[in-house]
Amino acid sequence: MDIDSKFIVPDHVAIIMDGNGRWATGRGMPRGFGHKKGAEAFRRTVDACIEMSVPFVTFYAFSTENWKRPKSEINILFDLFESYLDEFADIHKRNARIIFIGDIGALSEKLVNKINDCVRLTENNTGTAVTIAVNYGGHAEIVNAVKGIIIDELTFSDIDERVFERYLYTAELPPVDLLIRTGGDKRVSNFLLWQLAYAELVFLDVFWPDFTKEDLIEAFRRYSTKERRFGSIKSK
Ligand code: FPP
Repeated sequence: MDIDSKFIVPDHVAIIMDGNGRWATGRGMPRGFGHKKGAEAFRRTVDACIEMSVPFVTFYAFSTENWKRPKSEINILFDLFESYLDEFADIHKRNARIIFIGDIGALSEKLVNKINDCVRLTENNTGTAVTIAVNYGGHAEIVNAVKGIIIDELTFSDIDERVFERYLYTAELPPVDLLIRTGGDKRVSNFLLWQLAYAELVFLDVFWPDFTKEDLIEAFRRYSTKERRFGSIKSK
């Protein structure tokens, strides 16, 4: 952890980018416009994380439940993901790594190919690891891990928490230190259920399209005031 005079930069920050729809409708605009502005906030936040050398940042971009939205809104979201992937040379230049988690196989072949290209190009980079959760659900991830264990024919005595974690989508990521959710709601919405076990939770009233580096730092400041005991007692 890097200790600044004012705040600690967590090792792993997870972000639920909520409030795009309300941001847009409150301005008399279609929800898709909110997502477009949300994608800009995503880019800004990736930049801020790279600038502050955040080791791991994970964004909830599309959940397994988001398929219930109108097709037109889903298409807008997937177009935004694709446009972002078209810019990955820039991410690569900044030594950042892109990782995807979720059931990527269910996406279009074109998008899967772009995702794979981007992951491959950046996989040896040593800077910020930017993880994007697409078609991700915490329940689905745990069921998927159990299936992996069955396929590998592990036995009762083979399994403990560390082994189980290797079957999660996040096998290569550390546990989450800080979860930030924008948009005012206080829930985790099936995001990183296993990985959030000891995370500090910061809920912000700002809608995601308005999220800035200052909001990120404010979340880091709140995180820095917490004493993390991991089930133990206060050290003397
Ligand atoms: C939740 O807001 C947001 C989403 C379901 C989509 C998040 C996606 C983006 C911010 C675009 C990201 C782009 C890239 C390139 C990764 P909501 O629509 O549920 O808002 P509401 O609660 O106000 O309706």
